[in-house]
Amino acid sequence: MEKVKRASWSGQVAFILAAAASAIGLGNLWRFPYLAAQYGGGTFIVIYLALVMTLGFTLMLTEISVGRKTQQSQLTAYTCLSRGWGFLGFLGTVIPLLIVPYYCVIGGWVIYYFKAYCQMAFTGVNLMGESANLSGEFFSSFISSPFAPFGYGVIFIFASSAVIMLGVKNGIEKSNLVMMPILFLMAILISVYVITMPGSGDGIKYYLVPNMRCLTTADGNFSIALLGKTLLGATGQMFYSLSLAMGIMITYGSYMKKGDSIEKCVRRIEIFDTLVALLAGLMIIPVVYLFAVKTGTPVDEAMKAGPGLMFITLPKVFASLGSSGAYVGMAFFLLVIFAAATSAISLYEACVASVCDLLKLERKAATFFTGALILSLSTFSALGYGAWSKVTLFGMQFLDFFDFITNSVLMPIVAGITCIFVGWVIKPRAIIDECEAGGTTMKAKAFYSFMVRYLAPALMVALLISEVCRALKIGGWSI
Ligand code: PFF
Repeated sequence: MEKVKRASWSGQVAFILAAAASAIGLGNLWRFPYLAAQYGGGTFIVIYLALVMTLGFTLMLTEISVGRKTQQSQLTAYTCLSRGWGFLGFLGTVIPLLIVPYYCVIGGWVIYYFKAYCQMAFTGVNLMGESANLSGEFFSSFISSPFAPFGYGVIFIFASSAVIMLGVKNGIEKSNLVMMPILFLMAILISVYVITMPGSGDGIKYYLVPNMRCLTTADGNFSIALLGKTLLGATGQMFYSLSLAMGIMITYGSYMKKGDSIEKCVRRIEIFDTLVALLAGLMIIPVVYLFAVKTGTPVDEAMKAGPGLMFITLPKVFASLGSSGAYVGMAFFLLVIFAAATSAISLYEACVASVCDLLKLERKAATFFTGALILSLSTFSALGYGAWSKVTLFGMQFLDFFDFITNSVLMPIVAGITCIFVGWVIKPRAIIDECEAGGTTMKAKAFYSFMVRYLAPALMVALLISEVCRALKIGGWSI
């Protein structure tokens, strides 16, 4: 059989944009601002930045190098490097396969909200209100309705499938070229709007000024346990935000050219991702803060992460802005659609590339096969709050369960085993050689070797334990 030629990016910029587009997603928008607010503003930001530059750098560089070295996606990459390690690829491929279905369902919710804000902006009729918990009702009646969440999820899945079918250059690259500049523009415009709003100063201070509440006990003493908790909270966020341990960076790395410097690319991807996370904080925290003060809601309560923040609190906040609220809401949800779509596309591509590499299928056939699987799995998350709301797994709805099993359990396990594999089996030299393959010199060699052999696996074990304890509410890990 004729060997199918591997797709490639048209250049280094296209690769950086694609990886950044993958990284910038719901994690930046609904997780980072909340964590920063809860964990002491500037203090959390400094700890997060330090982690991105060290642990994030190590893990992302490893994944991209594995992809480029083997020219394979996650499923088959590890067997290529060492026989007997194929299980790691299988384990890792389960992650995007479980995430895409629920991520697309959330993408469907976002489309529904964007549509509602367009309607509100053009007709002037307020579908969600500031008072009487209307936005809460609007959200719960939507997610519990029998067909709508599934229908909007299907729209999101079909749109993502179309991009994947078109391939790496014509699909992923071109769609990023349209969506990413609009996303950046919206993020900057909304941030400027928020910063210049009268009274936003206190919220900005609450977000950016370092305070020690995440490191000190109620009587003001420094606590090592609280430092550990903050560190692990930031590590979990870094993982989520940089799209690590999902096979995405391996797949995207496998489309990269040898001459490009992996080290430089990683630094740039991290800068983009962190910049958008910081902007998301500026967009969200000051308005939620103002709203909380105005309505007498405790700030911590108003700042809750996840769907509640995006689909209930923010609509209340937008409604409180008066006639401009519908336009701000429209711009915001357009930004969220693009952030979610570019991330979903990368997760989907990680699955399709694995199917292509394993079964030696053409892209179209692999997309049909994977798409059908994603569509079927998405039914659980789409109906989990409605028709199937009585069914729970370990006390969680389907969507929450898929999120828990991937982000809290599988991702630290896969990342930890990957570090052990690279650090002790194939040795860091194999990755360093790949980074220097195109004639470029890797600057952080000694640092990388130390991280991948010792610190990264240790942190992964700690993260796994803390995430499981948090989810099962053991030992007071409430954040
Ligand atoms: N990095 C993306 C985000 O921050 O949303 C993509 C992503 C992360 C998707 C984690 C899903 C996930 F569970």
